Amino acid sequence: MQESKNKFYVTTPIYYVNAKPHLGHAYTTIAADVANRFRKVKGFDTFFLTGTDEHGDKIVEAAEKNGIKPKEYTDQISKLFSDLWPNISIENDYFIRTTDEDHKNIVKGILQKIYDSGDIYFSEYEGLYCKGCERFYQERELVDGLCPDHKKAPEVIKEANYFFKMSKYQNWLIDHINQNEGFIRPARYKNEVLSFLKEPLEDLCISRPKTRLTWGITLPFDENYVTYVWFDALVNYISALNYPGDMFNKYWSSVQHIVAKDILKPHGIYWPIMLKSAGLPIYNNLNVHGFWNIGKEKDKMSKSLGNVVDPGHMVEKYGSDQFRYFLMREMVFGLDANYSEEVIIKRINSDLSNDFGNLCNRVFSMTHRYFEGIVPEKSDQIEESNNLSLDQEKNEMIDAYLKEMELFSFHKGLESVWVFIRRMNKYVDEKAPWTLAKESKTDQLSCVIYNLLEGVRVVAGLLYPVLPKSYVKIMDMLGLTESTNLFEIEKIKFKDFLVSGNKINESEILFPTIEEEKVEEKKQSLAKLKNLKDEITYEDFMKIDLRVGVVTHAEPVKKSDRLLKVKVDIGEERELVAGISKSYSAEDIIGKSVVVVANLKKAKIMGIESNGMMLAASEKKNLTLITLDKDVKKGSQVA
Ligand code: MSP
Repeated sequence: MQESKNKFYVTTPIYYVNAKPHLGHAYTTIAADVANRFRKVKGFDTFFLTGTDEHGDKIVEAAEKNGIKPKEYTDQISKLFSDLWPNISIENDYFIRTTDEDHKNIVKGILQKIYDSGDIYFSEYEGLYCKGCERFYQERELVDGLCPDHKKAPEVIKEANYFFKMSKYQNWLIDHINQNEGFIRPARYKNEVLSFLKEPLEDLCISRPKTRLTWGITLPFDENYVTYVWFDALVNYISALNYPGDMFNKYWSSVQHIVAKDILKPHGIYWPIMLKSAGLPIYNNLNVHGFWNIGKEKDKMSKSLGNVVDPGHMVEKYGSDQFRYFLMREMVFGLDANYSEEVIIKRINSDLSNDFGNLCNRVFSMTHRYFEGIVPEKSDQIEESNNLSLDQEKNEMIDAYLKEMELFSFHKGLESVWVFIRRMNKYVDEKAPWTLAKESKTDQLSCVIYNLLEGVRVVAGLLYPVLPKSYVKIMDMLGLTESTNLFEIEKIKFKDFLVSGNKINESEILFPTIEEEKVEEKKQSLAKLKNLKDEITYEDFMKIDLRVGVVTHAEPVKKSDRLLKVKVDIGEERELVAGISKSYSAEDIIGKSVVVVANLKKAKIMGIESNGMMLAASEKKNLTLITLDKDVKKGSQVA
């Protein structure tokens, strides 16, 4: 299917609500927003969808951990996503939630359609199930017997379930992928799917018995089962268009999906087969990007490593245009990229402040200085005879940019614009307007400044999808309002669009440089957050019973250079083992008032039963006991 003319429908994955939004979610959503704004500028009628995926085991588990009902929990987390997006200039047209009634009904309709066509059957199945992935694994997919994502051994589960006949469509899918250039792109991911399809495709278990899971969409043909979360989630791409209504007819044929490599299989295999089986047109393209890894060690972002990047935080620190630019420029779409604050600061300082910001600054201030803020007149003849034109480089840049952006190669599109920005900075140095002014070569000076203003106008227009806020500021500085605005690619491309004699406005610094001390400060403030544990509720905290006690006895544990056996009077005597002897000797602590976790489960440490734990602050390997600065009765509660 070809991308239909003048329509553009772009989707992100719908994000699980078992965790707060992070850098990875922000990247995909910004990429979709950039692609969408780019099509808007090209005059397309666009529709941009994102949302949250709210059913399944994982969500129930997360809700339980927080001590609230799944619905209440999903409402809270889904809102974190929908509230975040405007802060990063995301302009989605719709935000879907899989708990929406409309969505549920459409999922049921599709299931019934597939069931009626005979592609769903009921059967007993024994398989290896990974709870984290919410799916059965085949032996060959495991690494050393463990789920490759969760590094845990899957459980053997035997149950009767409904299955979707994916195997029936295996050859059709292989042909479809081979016959439709770029169906899954970049090619490395197409090859990955094709290589997976070399092995026989197993049918997909699409139900979960309600005895095990109730948080899902009930199957329309058996009310003892709920729908497998992926089957439910994938349908969002059409339920958001209110399938089979007008919106579906209008936009579906122009759909472009964007996902990361982690969910290639459901999107590259399950989804096209589901569409085929339901008699629906297959999506146009699956655009797959890589993963952001964190820091020098290129770690996976994970709660346990404490390195999850909060996009809201980054936007507050650096600004939303800066954050968007960094993400789009730094990652080669399709490959993994590395995230660190050092790299983001480097990009902001070199590309935005130094190259683009500086160019704007120079051009606007020279227009004020030499022409009192009036767009000067340009003579083609003077331009030609003095070799002052920038048209060739500008046109080459526009062509390259348009081609790359079309293919989701945002980094290359941006790089081609930066080649031109750097060219313009060089042009300023070469043509030295200050010398032209001194020598009263006003015709040439006018031409140079005019060309530079035009260059800035064109660049700002092209960068609008990535830097929407800066675009508005630059248009204002150029004295162009949104109505005269070049909000169409054809106008951006116009030669010499600026009208001589028009006034430009006062300029402002677009991208302040981030100073070195601030870099240090920022690093430290980030360090403060390092290893921050998962948020807990007040109720969770209150489950910990902390008591004041006095150390009555302490002695070293034999054969250990770390442990002390300690008796603490907390209103009753507690014997416990504390790993503090690198910081305290036994004598040091006798008589100290300390705080003890009194309801910690007993543990045997080097054969000694430990009945609690004393609180201590740790700094590198040094421990400092938490003591009290006034006398408090033994056994008093601490909260
Ligand atoms: N709910 C499913 C998707 C269903 S779509 C019908 C899901 N949700 S998720 O919350 O885990 O989001 C996965 C997606 O988040 C990735 O495909 C990608 O878009 C984004 N990312 C999550 N971590 C990422 C990185 N570290 N780097 C880049 N993108 C990542 O899977």
